Amino acid sequence: MLMNTTRPEIATQETTILVVDDTSTNLQILFDLLSEQGYRVAIAKNGEAALERLQSYIPQLILLDVMMPGIDGFETCRRLNENPMTSNIPVIFMTALSDSVDKVRGLNIGAVDYITKPIQHEEVLARIRIHLQLRNIKALEGMVSQRTTELTQALDNLKNAQTQLVQSEKMSALGQLVAGVAHEINNPVNFIHGNLAHVQDYTLGLLDLVKLYQQHYPDPPEEIQDYTEDLELDFLEEDLEKMLASMKMGSVRIRQIVLSLRNFSRLDEAEKKPVDLHEGIESTLMILQYRLKARPEHPAIEVLRKYGEIPLVECYPSKLNQVFMNILANAIDALEESHGNISGKPQIRISTEQLHNKWVAIRIADNGHGIPEEIVSKIFDPFLTTKPMGKGTGLGLSISYQIITEQHGGKIDCYSTPGQGTEFVIQIPHKPMWESVELSEKEVRVK
Ligand SMILES: Nc1ncnc2c1ncn2[C@@H]1O[C@H](COP(=O)(O)OP(=O)(O)O)[C@@H](O)[C@H]1O
Ligand SMILES: [Mg+2]
Repeated sequence: MLMNTTRPEIATQETTILVVDDTSTNLQILFDLLSEQGYRVAIAKNGEAALERLQSYIPQLILLDVMMPGIDGFETCRRLNENPMTSNIPVIFMTALSDSVDKVRGLNIGAVDYITKPIQHEEVLARIRIHLQLRNIKALEGMVSQRTTELTQALDNLKNAQTQLVQSEKMSALGQLVAGVAHEINNPVNFIHGNLAHVQDYTLGLLDLVKLYQQHYPDPPEEIQDYTEDLELDFLEEDLEKMLASMKMGSVRIRQIVLSLRNFSRLDEAEKKPVDLHEGIESTLMILQYRLKARPEHPAIEVLRKYGEIPLVECYPSKLNQVFMNILANAIDALEESHGNISGKPQIRISTEQLHNKWVAIRIADNGHGIPEEIVSKIFDPFLTTKPMGKGTGLGLSISYQIITEQHGGKIDCYSTPGQGTEFVIQIPHKPMWESVELSEKEVRVK
């Protein structure tokens, strides 16, 4: 059936050409000519009929007469261009006029070419072939550019996923380190703490014994008298008690720190479980303690707590701690950067409250330099950072967003007034919609 073997992709049964002309003779000539070449030919006797036909199928090319009763070729072409379904079909005008104004007008409103009547067979076929080829190339280009967009998107997604993996890998490494350190310190500190009470008993006992000796032998030999003076026994007695008390305090403190470290890492808990959020916030603050204290180049950061009565929340505790860590570390960064530019003391305010509908809210605010409006709107985007290379990754908040919204079915918002401060508000359902949360996780995985 193929007439033109050198260009089989063009003149096939698949290629339909719509011929629109009000003159039957013209229609007949074109029909015969094109059919003979292996094209499928559809015909319409006027503009309206052509537009009507185009609703049910899309030809690869249109030959369009200019002069027709009803809507003429120009108007038909204009309407074709308006419709996204038909705007890509190449239109070749057929004009009986050798008037070049007509040709220019046709080309201007979107025709790709024109042929003059009476029709030169070879010319018509050549022009049709060229425009079909061009159309194929354009379609190919469109496909390539769409594919490129898809691939770029896929690459972006991959990069995102990779960096998120690295970040969560780092967090889990940090968690493991913290848990390891806590575990190692735990035993020795328990020895110290446990034995301090006995040390106190024994030394007090020994001192009492010395006192007894002194009572019963008020006049010891010279060597003992000299030694007692050198030892400053009275002072020793007084000081020893103070020392023991402060050692006890120290060991209690270390035990608290160890507890916080274990709380923070919570490696053992891969499952969701009911958790006291205040504990998580406190242990995170403990880890960040060294950054809150006064240093030569920076005054202390005051932490004001306003903890409400909130129930235990079903959550992944170490992930929520990661969110607290990211937000608090950002607040400290902002306060350090704002040093000298804020009125009053640098402060972080943390409050919690139970909302209606079984949700809890956690607010973390600072009085740092704030965030410009155009950045607030993109604050949870990955890789958005205003910090110097090596310091910021721009991932903290995007990961926090994912943890809160996807893994806990919650919400996180950022409010900021430049020059005055920033507030992050986290809201989590404490009786989470189990099913829906779990479902959305599966959906994410499938994607
Ligand atoms: N409390 C805050 N005050 C001012 N700017 C903040 C605060 N929290 C976040 N930002 C801004 O948001 C950006 C993104 O934060 P984040 O995702 O944690 O990435 P990073 O801290 O690595 O830059 C920060 O670079 C900073 O500009
Ligand atoms: Mg950060």
